[in-house]
Amino acid sequence: MIAIITGASKGIGKCTALKLKNYGYTIVSISRSEPDFGDIKFKVDVSDKIAVKDIVDKILGEFSFVDVIVNNAGFGIYGSFKETSLDEEEYMVRTNFLGTIYFTKFLLPSMIERKKGNIVNIISEAAYVSSPKLLVYSATKAALASFTNGLWAEARKYGVKVSGIYPGPVRTNFTSHPSFNGVKNSFDKFSVEPEKVANAVIKSIKTGKREIYVPSRLKIEPYFLKLSNVMQSITYRIVSKWFS
Ligand SMILES: NC(=O)c1ccc[n+]([C@@H]2O[C@H](COP(=O)([O-])OP(=O)(O)OC[C@H]3O[C@@H](n4cnc5c(N)ncnc54)[C@H](OP(=O)(O)O)[C@@H]3O)[C@@H](O)[C@H]2O)c1
Repeated sequence: MIAIITGASKGIGKCTALKLKNYGYTIVSISRSEPDFGDIKFKVDVSDKIAVKDIVDKILGEFSFVDVIVNNAGFGIYGSFKETSLDEEEYMVRTNFLGTIYFTKFLLPSMIERKKGNIVNIISEAAYVSSPKLLVYSATKAALASFTNGLWAEARKYGVKVSGIYPGPVRTNFTSHPSFNGVKNSFDKFSVEPEKVANAVIKSIKTGKREIYVPSRLKIEPYFLKLSNVMQSITYRIVSKWFS
């Protein structure tokens, strides 16, 4: 069993890679800096379409198939929209959203051919609760949620399972981006350990659930999100019939 994890050098990605290894997967780790864990490690910027295509071709050339892709690479920029850097925001959109589109685009055909595979996208509660000072980040995650939900409906008839994981705050290097200066402590207060997200990834691979929440230490968000999830699930089932 082969699993690719993007953003595997630290945080949620590294923890997920270690967890999947324990479940018997051969791990392909990807990040910009050299990942220190994985059976095969690649230094790739996921925002670079040509580099992603090249690496997917290499991986498929070696293994001919991939069982699981965990699209996890991403980062956030904190600050008022009137002050944040547009160049950095463009790069964030390419990393958080397009990176997932690229890997999925290049891997999906081989999964459809085998009628087998899991695509797991690490999204965020921010997809549903856009937060001031994190609004472009939230928008990248909302786009990812929309893509994931549509793909779940489209790919399931080919035997490919698609899931979105929606963590609240998680204790990782996420707040190490310089723009988070000063807010790290209040963020950390509510954070859970990355292992909880890794467990959610395992659950998503087993069940193919469309949405899995990993709440903050407050534990209240899922009640609200689940309510909207029920309505969405009904809608997606109807809509996927119309367009199939
Ligand atoms: N921590 C949270 O509270 C939280 C909550 C909800 C969702 N998430 C999501 O969880 C995912 C993982 O974040 P994390 O919390 O684990 O943060 P992290 O500890 O900073 O890890 C981010 C990972 O992404 C990689 N990465 C970033 N940009 C990349 C790029 N352009 N190309 C390739 N790799 C890239 C980083 O490695 P390099 O720097 O070496 O490239 C690193 O391995 C992100 O998508 C984030 O939005 C996090």
